[in-house]
Amino acid sequence: MNRLDGKVALISGAARGIGGETALRMAEAGARVVVGDLLDEAGQATVAAIRKAGGQAEYVHLDVTKEADWTAAIELATGRFGKLDVLVNNAGVFIGKSIEEISLEEWDRLVAVNMTGVFLGTRMAVPALREAARGAEHGSAIVNLASIAGLVGSQLDPLYSMTKGGVTLFTKSAALEFGRKGYRIRVNSIHPGVIETDMGEQTFAARARRAGHNDTAPLRQGVAESVPWGRLGVALDIAKGIVFLASDDAGYMNGAGLVVDGGFTAA
Ligand SMILES: NC(=O)c1ccc[n+]([C@@H]2O[C@H](COP(=O)([O-])OP(=O)(O)OC[C@H]3O[C@@H](n4cnc5c(N)ncnc54)[C@H](O)[C@@H]3O)[C@@H](O)[C@H]2O)c1
Repeated sequence: MNRLDGKVALISGAARGIGGETALRMAEAGARVVVGDLLDEAGQATVAAIRKAGGQAEYVHLDVTKEADWTAAIELATGRFGKLDVLVNNAGVFIGKSIEEISLEEWDRLVAVNMTGVFLGTRMAVPALREAARGAEHGSAIVNLASIAGLVGSQLDPLYSMTKGGVTLFTKSAALEFGRKGYRIRVNSIHPGVIETDMGEQTFAARARRAGHNDTAPLRQGVAESVPWGRLGVALDIAKGIVFLASDDAGYMNGAGLVVDGGFTAA
């Protein structure tokens, strides 16, 4: 189940957090992995951890807002590992400010990373993904990191929510376009709830700021208690979902969104 034997995957924002955990799990499942990020040292550490566990991985400096960086990352995957079967558009940023607080520069950064990054990665990877799909029974796969904030509104960061809503529908539109063109590239999104990563920490800091203090502990506790499953999510919870969507086990999933939030948005 969920094996990625023989697959080659490129993951953006894979130096830490959900992307880092996904890189480790994909390698564990048999994939050869290209780790892309802005954080070179942490990205190299992810690669070292994969190699130490007996897997194959390469690091590439990848700013998802830069076309030339995508070209280099995809060339590394196809040059070093021979092809590209899976793209995970994971890199993302969170600002945590209200509509009235956020600056235009901050909004531009949100759009650049969370939306332009996903669009560019998808467009640039299409030729290699199409090529790999020709020889694969279940085709190639793209997994986009949306959020529960791309399904329901977010009081904490309405603009982040706008970008993730865009990723949710871009996923469906890309699945339709590639289907119509016969590319055999499945495109799905995953929608994490509140996950304990650096970004998760930023969400607690934003909640604390809004409450007029900087003590995140009670807020973290409050959010954990409001999750029907009774705890916050961890990167591994999401990585498992991403590995599934990338694998042939999800071979008939296309244009779909997988919600992994412990029931947070079930009500
Ligand atoms: N943590 C959560 O609660 C949560 C919830 C829902 C969705 N998500 C989404 O999951 C994804 C991963 O989030 P995370 O929690 O691991 O966050 P994180 O902040 O821990 O990691 C994000 C990674 O993306 C990288 N990154 C940022 N800008 C980049 C750029 N321009 N180019 C390349 N890499 C860049 C960072 O360096 C970092 O390594 C994001 O898209 C995020 O929006 C997270």
